[in-house]
Amino acid sequence: MSTEQDMGRMVPSLALLRTLPMFTGVPDAQLETIVRMAVCRKVARHTTIVRAGDHMDSIYVIIEGNAKVLNSDADGREVILSWLGPGEFFGEMGMIDGSPRSANVVASEACELLVMAKAEFKQCLADNFDLCLNIMKSLVHRLREADRKIESLALMDVYGRVAKLLLEFSSKENGQRTIVRKLTKLDISKMVGASREMVSRVMKDLEASGYIQIEAGRIILNLD
Ligand code: CMP
Repeated sequence: MSTEQDMGRMVPSLALLRTLPMFTGVPDAQLETIVRMAVCRKVARHTTIVRAGDHMDSIYVIIEGNAKVLNSDADGREVILSWLGPGEFFGEMGMIDGSPRSANVVASEACELLVMAKAEFKQCLADNFDLCLNIMKSLVHRLREADRKIESLALMDVYGRVAKLLLEFSSKENGQRTIVRKLTKLDISKMVGASREMVSRVMKDLEASGYIQIEAGRIILNLD
């Protein structure tokens, strides 16, 4: 893993901010303040954007690309807590409670990010209730996802956890539920809390039983 690698900074536009769910309902006058204080930054794949334990200084919104939220133990074993995509933000937890970063956030592909400094962003929050509400909604959504994950870890076997995850990552493509995002068996194992070998076995069984088809980097689900 590399540390944050700056591939260039750009100034965001008002039009870009209007497309981000985090800023829904925020008046243009306030968005203009954010345009003045924020920067856009491109980072390469595998860049560690936020490192667990670090002091918090910025909040990030993903404009393009995907990033994994993950933690590891002393032996280097990793658990993927979440996978964030365009329009989603991270780095808000340290801003809200003043604690060090709770997890690593690593670019799983080249990403373009909107970066806002803590002090200025806190001022925007103080000035705008819609912005606070949008952040609260996302936190509630994350809590619901974490609840579902705890349930599946406690109540499902690895088959059930893998099947549930495949379903969650799939979307309808030409009438078929398909996972187009590059998702390795190692990634899956880090999300469902099982070994890579066990996930391989489950995927082979699902394929042999006709529940999934793996072709050209995509996974097609057969739900009929
Ligand atoms: P922060 O603790 O400042 O830095 C790490 C960030 O990872 C954290 O803020 C959140 O934005 C994000 N994060 C931590 N846990 C989760 C989770 N379970 N789901 C989504 N994002 C998370």
